[in-house]
Amino acid sequence: MPDAVPGAGSRPFDRAALAERVAARRWYHTIDLGQGVVTPGVDNTPVRLARLDLPASLAGQTVLDIGAWDGFFSFEAERRGAARVLATDSYSWSDTGWGSKAGFELARQALGSRVEDLVIDVLDLSPERVGTFDVVFFLGVLYHLRHPLLALERVASVTRGCLVLETVVDLVGLGRPAAAFYPGTELNRDPTNWWAPNCEGMVAMLQSVGFSSVRTVTPQHGAPYRALRAAWHRVRRGEAMAAAFRQDRAVFHAFR
Ligand SMILES: C[S@@+](CC[C@H](N)C(=O)[O-])C[C@H]1O[C@@H](n2cnc3c(N)ncnc32)[C@H](O)[C@@H]1O
Repeated sequence: MPDAVPGAGSRPFDRAALAERVAARRWYHTIDLGQGVVTPGVDNTPVRLARLDLPASLAGQTVLDIGAWDGFFSFEAERRGAARVLATDSYSWSDTGWGSKAGFELARQALGSRVEDLVIDVLDLSPERVGTFDVVFFLGVLYHLRHPLLALERVASVTRGCLVLETVVDLVGLGRPAAAFYPGTELNRDPTNWWAPNCEGMVAMLQSVGFSSVRTVTPQHGAPYRALRAAWHRVRRGEAMAAAFRQDRAVFHAFR
């Protein structure tokens, strides 16, 4: 069962106390907590939100956010009127050194949010464990998984309506379904990155796990943008330009 929600419906901090607590921890998401306090996330989350093409209203919908971390997208679903939101994560909520659940809990309290939470690995998701949801967010998680197709089967099993998936894509321009494998730290120097399909591969994977229609929401950026980005990665991270040129991020809406 999801954990209880402490402090839901209340705003327990004055501005100074909130700012002090925010400053005391590391943040992945950039979240506006109100009272002029914004979490200093390493991720420019509002910009990513704009690329998801979410409906303005999620009124009455149930939403599952897989790999929620600091919870930006869970809180956003609640803000858009969702009747129930369940935020789940495993790795970065398990104090592995990569992150913690403290940011999510502070943001939830500060926002007076009723978002529920559950520590669960994506591979353990099932209708029996968590139920099924009208809308499922699977954002920035797929490339962290060693078994992406198996994970997508689990994700499909808990999706009643629409899956919103955002991921790194690679091998852009190949023209047939494929996925790049990162056995080491090839992608962003991060050993937790394993696979990234290209857009054709992502659509085919979603269809193969039972989604009846798939919309590619954000098509890949054009060659000039990707060339500039590849040069930037070369300078900043010493990555091979040819590989980075074929990488991008993309968003998909998949319907049961
Ligand atoms: C790059 S962050 C993305 C966070 C958020 N979804 C977003 O889009 O901003 C990847 C998240 O996926 C989570 N994650 C990685 N492997 C996971 C797994 N096997 N099951 C559940 N969550 C996982 C991590 O803990 C982390 O919170």
